[in-house]
Amino acid sequence: MPHRIIIRPAAAADVEKIDALLQPVARQRLILPRNRDDLFQHMQEFLVAEYDQQLVGVVAMHIYGTNLGEIRSLVVDADYRQHGIGSLLVEACERWAKGLGIVRLFALTYVTRFFTRLGYEQVSKESLPHKIWTVCVHCEKFADCDEIAVQKALSDAPVQPMKVIPILETLEDDQDNR
Ligand SMILES: CC(C)(COP(=O)(O)OP(=O)(O)OC[C@H]1O[C@@H](n2cnc3c(N)ncnc32)[C@H](O)[C@@H]1OP(=O)(O)O)[C@@H](O)C(=O)NCCC(=O)NCCS
Repeated sequence: MPHRIIIRPAAAADVEKIDALLQPVARQRLILPRNRDDLFQHMQEFLVAEYDQQLVGVVAMHIYGTNLGEIRSLVVDADYRQHGIGSLLVEACERWAKGLGIVRLFALTYVTRFFTRLGYEQVSKESLPHKIWTVCVHCEKFADCDEIAVQKALSDAPVQPMKVIPILETLEDDQDNR
């Protein structure tokens, strides 16, 4: 039987599981740490991935202005990686951003190849506006940040704004056909 993957906006009941996904990865310093209060306060920025009704992935999108949004806190449960779930989360952010009228998304990352495969280009960190560093000042690596900046211009093609229906994407995961 094919597996079912759903990408949907996060809900309050997801915060505990999101926290459990983010914490170990933050300890590995692959993403910035976030506490529960922060997760609740920014819950509207999060999408989650469900695989057969289990929450296995998360991403956040933070908006700086019409010309810029950031992909943050992207994590897929280690047991569910390499199945395209991370890509689905990023692509859902792109459609969400386009629907909101955002023209460019960026990320600070160590997984450059993952992003370039999705059409992102590497850019110098200096090319990004200063305001993006406001959360980074809390990072212990701030003075010597070795993350790579990647960005993607979202196409001009019009998209429908996200509907109230809380499902952005549903697909059948049939790995034999990938
Ligand atoms: C980065 C991360 C989110 C990617 O999640 P993922 O679900 O494994 O992502 P995908 O499956 O879409 O893509 C991963 C790779 O699997 C490959 N892949 C995708 N679907 C596949 C499939 N069905 N079969 C085999 N390989 C597949 C992709 O080609 C991709 O290759 P890459 O090595 O060139 O990137 C995940 O590795 C993770 O949580 N890492 C730790 C946290 C982190 O670094 N986050 C990024 C912060 S910016």
